[in-house]
Amino acid sequence: MERHGAQRHRVLALLKEAGGVSVASVQRIARETGVPEADVWGAGRFYELLSHPDVERRVCQGLTCQLFGAATLEGTKVSCLGQCDRAPVVLGRDLGVVHYGMPRGGVSPADPDLPMDLGGPDTADYAGLARARELGVAGVLDALAAAGLQGRGGAGFPAHLKWRSVSEQAVTERYVVCNADEGEPGTFKDREIMLRRPHRMLEGLAIAAETIGAAAIFIYIRGEFPEEKASLQRALAEADAHLGHLDWRFVDGHGAYICGEETALIESIEGRRGMPRLKPPYPTVQGLWGKPTLMNNVETLACIPDILVRGGERFAALGRTEPGTKLYCVSGHVGRPGVYELPLGVCLDEVVDAAGGYVGTPRAFSPGGASSGFLPMSARRVPLDFKGLPAHGSMLGSAGVVVLDDTVDMAQAALWQAVFFEDESCGQCAPCRLGTQLVRQSIGRYLGTGDPAHFAHLDEIAWEMDQGSICGLGMVAALPLQMARRHFPQDFGPRPPGATMTGGGPA
Ligand SMILES: Cc1cc2nc3c(=O)[nH]c(=O)nc-3n(C[C@H](O)[C@H](O)[C@H](O)COP(=O)(O)O)c2cc1C
Ligand code: SF4
Repeated sequence: MERHGAQRHRVLALLKEAGGVSVASVQRIARETGVPEADVWGAGRFYELLSHPDVERRVCQGLTCQLFGAATLEGTKVSCLGQCDRAPVVLGRDLGVVHYGMPRGGVSPADPDLPMDLGGPDTADYAGLARARELGVAGVLDALAAAGLQGRGGAGFPAHLKWRSVSEQAVTERYVVCNADEGEPGTFKDREIMLRRPHRMLEGLAIAAETIGAAAIFIYIRGEFPEEKASLQRALAEADAHLGHLDWRFVDGHGAYICGEETALIESIEGRRGMPRLKPPYPTVQGLWGKPTLMNNVETLACIPDILVRGGERFAALGRTEPGTKLYCVSGHVGRPGVYELPLGVCLDEVVDAAGGYVGTPRAFSPGGASSGFLPMSARRVPLDFKGLPAHGSMLGSAGVVVLDDTVDMAQAALWQAVFFEDESCGQCAPCRLGTQLVRQSIGRYLGTGDPAHFAHLDEIAWEMDQGSICGLGMVAALPLQMARRHFPQDFGPRPPGATMTGGGPA
């Protein structure tokens, strides 16, 4: 039994300070916080950075790093490190990035007309915050509605509805949380905002906090992003005159992708294993500490200042099929991997054009991270937006676009994604825990034997996972394999044991 007044929320931070989980650290933290030792162990062991603090080299196993030879690098295998534009990469013990590809990815050229303008200078006049105060709560919500801003964290939920819902709750103790846990393989846009445009994100957060009347602002930042955290902290100090009146709290992630899911993230801030909660209730009604909580993605928040300064209608008109511009992360077989701000709804060819063109002969692409599966090049002119991609069995998600050329064996690519989902499942739902294993095993066995019979039960397993999972991870984890089989059947037929297929034929 936990002692009354036990300080559970301090457990993960103290474990980090102590250098991770060890007998001595757990005993001391249990004494200090009043949380039982078993619970401190249980929470700490869930997180990769806390349970394996002494790792010298963490080798990224994300799709793009795999495309560029991650398998040849020595070290401990870890899930995507969010550095796909420099693939392949390794994270040192000090969490510094060792890259074997480009030193730094590209961004769109400076253009003050763009809301995010990653290539331009970081302005810090906080005109958006001033405008928000002039407009008042109703005016800010109306501007957001006119902008049609959809959440950029993956689901595309309209921002104004979420903000309105929190501001209308009867409970007046409310929180704002910034989801900076970016971990979807192929995605590294939030990283660039935090490094290049920290003021925009902080200003968006300040506007959110004043609009909903938040007691505190939490920034939950990926543990593997120390440079990004330092950039935000510097910006916060620089903008003290504008932001100093608000209660800012940084919370480090500890290497668990699932903590990007909003309720898992809340569990993690509260000091537990990051396991998603059943919804409803949604965080807008009962979030952090059971209070109404507004959670938005870094990019969503960074769009807010421009919407208030130049108007929601202008922002909306910048989009092609849906409102606004969007940061597309581009990696894989392209000339200049990076983050490109383009009208929402451009197609693959346009995105790749911004990223220096195709390298080699393109064969497949993943439009929005591992969760979006794979599409064939016949979909190269499909608008990459939130509402259209589901008709193609995919989704925009976090817009982590990965291009695969015709040397790639799609069964191998599906295996890389399956390993990711298996490793990152939190394990609380049986369909996801077992399903992710079975999906990975089916591809592994197929690749080992060349016998497609190993896919015999895939559709039933995928159905169970979709229907029986609490959160989006389990619902989409079979998708990369299902889509790869649908669009590239030549890579999934009988083949000699251990053979690799490329470009639709034996290597
Ligand atoms: C498995 C999983 C992982 C997620 N990871 C992230 C993430 O890293 N960053 C993020 O902003 N949203 C992530 N999301 C979406 C969040 O749950 C949530 O929808 C989002 O933070 C809301 O912000 P938005 O409305 O601004 O998009 C994830 C969702 C799922 C199901
Ligand atoms: S679907 Fe998977 S990741 Fe999501 S809560 Fe269930 S077990 Fe955890």
